[in-house]
Amino acid sequence: MPLSLTQLCSSGTLLMLLVSNLLLWEKVTSAPMNISEAGLSEVSLKDLFDNATILSENITKLATDMRMEFFYNNFSSRIFSKTLRSLHKEMRLNDVFNKCHTLPIKTPETKAEVRKTSFEDFLNITFNTLRAWKDPLKHLVTELSVMPRVPDVILSQAKAIEAQHKVLLEYIMKIVPKVNPALQENEDFPVWSDLDSLQAPDEEIRLFALYVFSYCLRVDLQIVEFYIYMMRCLHMHGNICYLESAPSF
Ligand SMILES: *[C@@H]1O[C@H](CO)[C@@H](O)[C@H](O)[C@H]1NC(C)=O
Ligand SMILES: *[C@@H]1O[C@H](CO)[C@@H](O)[C@H](O)[C@H]1NC(C)=O
Ligand SMILES: *[C@@H]1O[C@H](CO)[C@@H](O)[C@H](O)[C@H]1NC(C)=O
Ligand SMILES: *[C@@H]1O[C@H](CO)[C@@H](O)[C@H](O)[C@H]1NC(C)=O
Ligand SMILES: *[C@@H]1O[C@H](CO)[C@@H](O)[C@H](O)[C@H]1NC(C)=O
Repeated sequence: MPLSLTQLCSSGTLLMLLVSNLLLWEKVTSAPMNISEAGLSEVSLKDLFDNATILSENITKLATDMRMEFFYNNFSSRIFSKTLRSLHKEMRLNDVFNKCHTLPIKTPETKAEVRKTSFEDFLNITFNTLRAWKDPLKHLVTELSVMPRVPDVILSQAKAIEAQHKVLLEYIMKIVPKVNPALQENEDFPVWSDLDSLQAPDEEIRLFALYVFSYCLRVDLQIVEFYIYMMRCLHMHGNICYLESAPSF
């Protein structure tokens, strides 16, 4: 099955996501931030986070649905299942994760690291991750539009993800200058370079590229969803979000 637990647990980051609820029950000692000091406009930052939260949940669901479709649709099911089977057999599930172009973006991987991650760090990672997907998503839509036998359902899922990613990135770009304009100065986000594989004449190569693409996209969007959730919580409730007796948000 595409979404087996083994696969989800194949990286520390995802494991961290799965236990992210437990994290809220852990004691915390660090007190990394005081957002109100930054002189923010409270109302609109909350509104931006409210919208970004809804959007990030929506777009993660879309990315999950698209990956499921790749697994079940006759267009790609054979190669997707074959790839998953061979990765399982060789116990090399991390191989796909290690192909993600966003791998160089340093993310907290343990609960302890999450606790040391400040609001600004979450924002920095979210911003860099979303920027790193802008071009690849544009290419995905372009390539799926010209690739033979691509089903309408997959093409429209890709288009919806690209459109909503754009809006989500706009929300984050409105949040960044309110929190720390210096975050905008870093233009050093990872560049995607798998276009050749998406355009390859060999169908197996193309479908494997789509396997990696849809896997990495879904993982990154899940991570972004968690970070946006954490940032909204930190903004609204402060450091208690790292704590055990967190209220329900
Ligand atoms: C945050 O900063 C504001 C303004 O400087 C201050 O009044 C408030 O006490 C600070 N809160 C914490 C938890 O340090
Ligand atoms: C949030 O989304 C709603 C509905 O799309 C929109 O009306 C509102 O202007 C958005 N808020 C911000 C701060 O962008
Ligand atoms: C969520 O995604 C669906 C499907 O693409 C779309 O119709 C809906 O407008 C999206 N909601 C938001 C808030 O973007
Ligand atoms: C599925 O696709 C293959 C080619 O990849 C084709 O030969 C086969 O007829 C298709 N099956 C169905 C049920 O559409
Ligand atoms: C944001 O992240 C990048 C690398 O991912 C790093 O080079 C930069 O220093 C970070 N910016 C801040 C203000 O922490």
